[in-house]
Amino acid sequence: MSRASGLRGRIALVTGAAGGIGEAVVRLLREEGASVVATDLGAPRLEGKDVWPAALDVTDSAAVDALIDRVEQEWGAIDCGVNVAGILSTDTVVETTDTTWRRVFAVNTDGVFHVSRALARHMVRRRRGSLVTVGSNAAGIPRHAMAAYAASKAAATMFTRCLGLELAPLGIRCNIVAPGSTLTPMQTGMWADEHGAARVIAGQPERFKSGIPLGKLATPDDVADAVLFLLSDRAGHITMADLYVDGGATLR
Ligand code: NAI
Repeated sequence: MSRASGLRGRIALVTGAAGGIGEAVVRLLREEGASVVATDLGAPRLEGKDVWPAALDVTDSAAVDALIDRVEQEWGAIDCGVNVAGILSTDTVVETTDTTWRRVFAVNTDGVFHVSRALARHMVRRRRGSLVTVGSNAAGIPRHAMAAYAASKAAATMFTRCLGLELAPLGIRCNIVAPGSTLTPMQTGMWADEHGAARVIAGQPERFKSGIPLGKLATPDDVADAVLFLLSDRAGHITMADLYVDGGATLR
């Protein structure tokens, strides 16, 4: 990827960086020579001159603005942003409480808005930058017991596309990566019974794989590779795209 990725020496901000996909995005960005502001609810445990670990709750717009302003002043211009933070609800609609609905939208939709807006305010001045939102293939097709999650991801996806349209005249690109089932704590949590993630319900991984033409779940690196491509100069003429990384599940 390094031949023309253009990521070497750039600064990227990643949310949800302590999770399965976020960790992979941070690792691959560093391998490409980028410096990374790695954020999550608690600061990720990372060390090195090329990483700034920070605690950041994406639902707190004032905290988002403050961190991004601080990084811009003390570290340099943030060239790339990756919205990875997200939470899942698998309640049916009749089970979904107001609190759950609002929480899912607060993280998955409002969080993407807060972070993208704060980054865009700096990027428009420089007329340079690239954003990627990790959406979901659940945003495109109705799923059982996923109304809040799928709706929040559909909103984040359309928001990112509209932002891409606004920023395109400035050369700033905004894209979406839509993973299918990916082997992370979020996914394995769905397979756990009510006693916790340690006990995976028999047959669940096989049931998920059977719906995927490529016959396997995505790894976090599969998703991170797509994120890095869209962030990079190799995707220089791609904006408002929604790249599915789901082994063909959506089109089967
Ligand atoms: P994960 O649960 O391993 O990581 C999510 C991270 O987001 C966690 O580290 C968590 O602390 C962080 N987070 C939660 N609320 C936050 C908040 N308010 N502020 C900041 N950080 C917060 O999950 P995974 O699988 O790595 O998911 C990453 C993204 O990929 C999510 O947006 C998820 O919806 C999406 N995705 C995941 C799929 C999967 O099968 N694992 C499939 C499709 C999409």
